[in-house]
Amino acid sequence: MSVDELSPESSIMHSAMLPFCVCALLLAKLSGAAPAASSSIVSSSVSSSAASAVFASSVSPSSGPATTASDATQSSSFLPATATVEPVSSESNVPISGNEPIRGGLGAPIQGPTDDEMVLQNPDFLAPPTTDHGSFDNVKWPFSLSHNRLQTGGWARQQNVGVMPIATEMAGVNMRLVPGAVRELHWHKTSEWAYVLKGTTQISAVDQEGRNYLASVKAGDLWYFPPGIPHSLQATGDDPEGSEFLLVFDDGNFSEDETFLLTDWLAHTPMEVIQRNFQALGTDDWNSLPSEELYIFPAGYVPSDSDTAPSSPQGQVPLPFSFALSDMEATQLSGGSVKIVDSTIFNISTETAVAEVTVQPGAIREMHWHPTDDEWSFFIEGQARVTVFASQSNARTFDYHCPFAATHAGDVGYVPAAMGHYVENIGNTTLKFLEIFKTDKFTDISLNQWLALTPPELVKAHLGISDETVGRLSKTKPVVAAGSA
Ligand SMILES: *[C@@H]1O[C@H](CO)[C@@H](O)[C@H](O)[C@H]1NC(C)=O
Ligand SMILES: *[C@@H]1O[C@H](CO)[C@@H](O)[C@H](O)[C@H]1NC(C)=O
Ligand SMILES: *[C@@H]1O[C@H](CO)[C@@H](O)[C@H](O)[C@H]1NC(C)=O
Repeated sequence: MSVDELSPESSIMHSAMLPFCVCALLLAKLSGAAPAASSSIVSSSVSSSAASAVFASSVSPSSGPATTASDATQSSSFLPATATVEPVSSESNVPISGNEPIRGGLGAPIQGPTDDEMVLQNPDFLAPPTTDHGSFDNVKWPFSLSHNRLQTGGWARQQNVGVMPIATEMAGVNMRLVPGAVRELHWHKTSEWAYVLKGTTQISAVDQEGRNYLASVKAGDLWYFPPGIPHSLQATGDDPEGSEFLLVFDDGNFSEDETFLLTDWLAHTPMEVIQRNFQALGTDDWNSLPSEELYIFPAGYVPSDSDTAPSSPQGQVPLPFSFALSDMEATQLSGGSVKIVDSTIFNISTETAVAEVTVQPGAIREMHWHPTDDEWSFFIEGQARVTVFASQSNARTFDYHCPFAATHAGDVGYVPAAMGHYVENIGNTTLKFLEIFKTDKFTDISLNQWLALTPPELVKAHLGISDETVGRLSKTKPVVAAGSA
C-alpha cells in the first residue's frame, strides 16, 4: 500500500505512524528476513533528508531480493548504479529560448509586467534547468548595474559585498581614463591586481624601501601592487581613446571610495604642518593645493611609453609590478586555451592568481572546483552559462551574456571555494573570461581527471557507466574540452 492509496484520515494516521514504519523497515532489513521495501513508499512518504539517507544505505531494490555488501563484492557483475536510487532525468535542460517561464510541462506564461530585455539575458533564472535546486545565493553582477562615478576624463564603477554579499574575498572595479587622465596618487589596505581591457596604462609606484617602478601596461597585461604601496594610474596616448581596465582587490568589503588619496590627506592637514613637513615654512608654494580629492582628473599631459622612473638611490623594485600576459603563449586545449599567471611567474603577485580562458562555441571549461580559493570571474566576451553546485542538492544556474550583441559582456561572477562548476559557451563566438583568485598559486581539481585516476570498478559502481566510457576518462586535465567526442 502506498501513501497515494490512503484515505485522508489514514494519511494523518500514516504520518503519525511514519517513525514506526521507518524503524520497522530498518529492523526488517537488518534481520535480513524481510522482503525488499518498495521504493515508492520511500520516495513518497519520507521527506526528511536524514531519513532518506538511512533508506539509501539500507533499502535494497524493489525488483530483487536483499543483497548484502559482501554479496556485491563477490559477484562478478555489478549492481546497477540505480540499485538504491532512481536514475537521473535524461532531460537535456538547455537554456529555454523565448521569454516565457515555461520548461517542458512546467510553468505558465507571464501575465503581469515583465522586463523582456532582462528576461532574455537570464533564461536560466526565468526557467531554471530542472536540475537546479535549493536556495544558493546570487553570483551574477553586471557592471552595467553598478553606480558609476563620473569624473573629468574618466569614470569608475565597482562591485563589492554591497551588491553581491556572497563575494567576501574579492571586489572589483571597472575604470576608464582618457589619454592623460590620472587615477590620482593613492594607496589602500588591500592589494590591487589589474587586467588592462583596452589601450595602455602607465603605472607608477614606490615601495617601503624607497625603490620605484614605472611601466606602460598594454591591453591584456597585468599589474599588481602589494597592500599599502602608493601608486598611480594614467592612460597613455597609445590608443586615441585612452585606456580601460579591471581592478581586483583581495577583500569583498573594498570600496573604491575609501582609498587613501594624496590630495585628500593634504586637504585635511594644517598648512603649517604641510610647510614644516616639506621644509617650506613661510613660503606660499603650497597655496594651490586642491581643497578636496581629485580622484580622476586630466593631468594636462600625456605620458609616453619611453618614460622612465626618476633615479632612486635605493634602485628599482626587485620584482616588477607588471606582467606581459598578452605576450605569453597560451596552452592550447581541445576546446579552447588557457594562460595561468600566479606568483610562480609573476612573483610579486602573492595575493592574486588568474586563469585567462577561451572556450570555443559548443566547448566547455570542464566541471571542476578550486580546493581552497573563491573564484571571482569576469566575462570579457561571448556567452557563458555556469551552474554552481553548493552541496546538499543545492545547485543554481547563471547566464553571463547579452543575447543582443555577442561581444557585449562585463558581467562579474563568483564561485565560493570547493563548489563544483563548469563554464559552457552557449554562444556562436569565442567565450573569453578570467578566473581570479586570492592566492599565490592557482589550483583546481578536474572531475574528469579525478575519476580517471580512481579505480575503474569504483567509478562504475557509482555511475553505472560502461567500460568504454571509463576508458575515455582523461588522466590529464582537459581544462577546456571540445563539446563532442
Ligand atoms: C565587511 O564589513 C562588515 C561591516 O564592517 C563586517 O561585518 C564584515 O565582517 C566584513 N567582511 C569581511 C569579509 O571583511
Ligand atoms: C620568480 O621566481 C622564480 C621561481 O622562484 C625565479 O626563477 C625567477 O627568477 C623569479 N623572477 C624574478 C623576476 O625575480
Ligand atoms: C547561433 O547561430 C544560430 C544559427 O545562425 C542561431 O540560430 C542561434 O540563435 C545563434 N545563437 C546565439 C546564442 O547567438
